[in-house]
Parts: sequence; C-alpha cells; structure tokens
Amino acid sequence: MNIPLTPPQPAEAVDAASRRYREPVPLAGWNPVLASLLDHRSVRAYRPDPLAPGTVETLVAAASSAPTSSNIQAWSVVAVTDPDRRDRLAEIAGGQEHIRQAPLILVWIADLARAEAVADTAGVTLQGLDYTETFLLAAIDAALAAQNALIAAESLGLGTVYIGALRNDPKAVAELLNLPRRAAAVFGLVVGHPDRKVETAVKPRLPQQAVLHHETYSTAPLAEAIARHDRATEAFRAEQSLPPQSWSALLVDRLRDVAALKGRHKLRQTLERLGFILG
Ligand SMILES: Cc1cc2nc3c(=O)[nH]c(=O)nc-3n(C[C@H](O)[C@H](O)[C@H](O)COP(=O)(O)O)c2cc1C
Repeated sequence: MNIPLTPPQPAEAVDAASRRYREPVPLAGWNPVLASLLDHRSVRAYRPDPLAPGTVETLVAAASSAPTSSNIQAWSVVAVTDPDRRDRLAEIAGGQEHIRQAPLILVWIADLARAEAVADTAGVTLQGLDYTETFLLAAIDAALAAQNALIAAESLGLGTVYIGALRNDPKAVAELLNLPRRAAAVFGLVVGHPDRKVETAVKPRLPQQAVLHHETYSTAPLAEAIARHDRATEAFRAEQSLPPQSWSALLVDRLRDVAALKGRHKLRQTLERLGFILG
C-alpha cells in the first residue's frame, strides 16, 4: 500500500496532532491511515447489536497480515461471543462491564502448542521452546497481530478496548477456553458498536521529547516533558469529569505495590503451570 502524503500540513493534521499531544507536532504528511491512528481511543460503552457477518474473519485477516518473528506465527485468537462465557471473562477481569455489553471479545493467545505439535509430527524435541525468549516471541507476535485487528476494527467504525486484566488469572482463562499446554491468554480485545450516547475522547500522550531519542538515549528533556504531560492529563481528566490526578500519580498508583498488580505478580509461576518453561 502506498498512500501518498498530502503536503503541506492540512488543518486536519494540525488538529489531530495537537489533540493527541495537546501541543503542536509537525507531521510530514497526512492520509486516512494516519488520521485513523491519531484518532484512536478505547471504547468502554457498547450497543449489544451483533457484528456484520464476516467481521471476525476480516479482523483476523488483518491480524494474520502482521509481521511475525521468523514466520513462526506463534499466536492464536479465540473469538468469544457466548454471553455466559463473556460473563465469566468479565468476572475474571474484575467485573469489566464492557465485556458483557459488546457482542465479541477476541482473546489473544501466546501459542507455543502449535510449534510443539509440528515438532511432534516430525519426531523432534524443540529445545528452543523452553526459554523466556520464546515466550516473549509468542507474546510479541500476539500483540502485533491484535493491534492490526484493532486498527482494522476502527477502520470499520467499530470500537475496541484491550483487556489486560485477563492476566489476573490466566489459568482460569485457559480452563474456560480449553487451551492446550503451552498456550496462554495474554490479553483480550473487546469489539463492538460504540454506544454513541457515551462520548469518547483522544487521550493525550507523552510529548515526543520524553519518548523519542536521537542516536542515543537522553534523560535531559524528561522532567520538563513529564510536567507538560501531567498538566495535559489533568486537563483531559477535568474535561472527562474524572477525579483530578496527574499522569505521574496514575503511574505511581498502578505500580506502587504488589496489590496493584491484582494477582499478576505470580505470572511466572502461573505460566509455568500452563506448560511454559521460562529458562
Ligand atoms: C495490553 C493492554 C491492556 C489493557 N487492559 C485494559 C483493561 O483491562 N481494561 C480497560 O478498560 N482498558 C485496558 N487497556 C486500555 C488502556 O487503559 C488504554 O489504552 C490507555 O488508557 C490509553 O487510552 P486510549 O486507548 O483511549 O488512548 C489496556 C491497554 C493495553 C495496551
């Protein structure tokens, strides 16, 4: 795909960049892909209407088109529409109501079971499976595939939200979805028709000075960039009628103690029980 860039800076591009960063950022060009990416927002209120036939297959075609480490394709996805099963996934995720509301949750699996099955057929033992590197490879493959599906869903006018809270209890998810040994859910992706009565907004991101380094990493501009992001986040939360809190305070709360990890501090042991050896 070669979508031509439209020079110079149309007003739409200037607006989209400043919505994302709450400050001007020059873009080299503008096209529908960039417009869609810069307009991303998670959706947490859905209409119950079913998705058009073929939607899951369309999203998976986008997912399958993502790059994959060494072409191993170490991911799978379980499409869950059954209300009882979604209800159970919502419970595992700490009661997240949008999992019950939306007609679909895609559960993304770091999947080394298929590689092992291929090797079994060939009568080979894969020593390479039993390392943290290989689990990470599978988790990265799953994440890249899922993000392609998210972009595809948004391009169809659908809403999405990731559900990392499935990692609160990956063993319960594995039982519910009948996952084989060496397969684990890394996150879910809720997909549905956004309830337009509930407004969503583009959430500001860290200024590029905090995340973009040229040639070597530099911490020099960090404090000032974070202060700007704290102010942007506070403004965003006020507009959304959310309790006042800076980005720095949110970050600290999320990682301050083990309780904030909601069970995920035992992930290594759980993964080992699911058949992953993290050597
Ligand atoms: C891996 C991952 C897991 C996430 N898990 C959850 C979740 O369990 N529940 C939820 O409401 N949002 C979840 N999110 C969404 C983030 O909260 C959201 O992307 C972030 O606040 C930025 O907001 P935005 O997506 O609207 O730009 C998750 C996002 C990612 C990437």
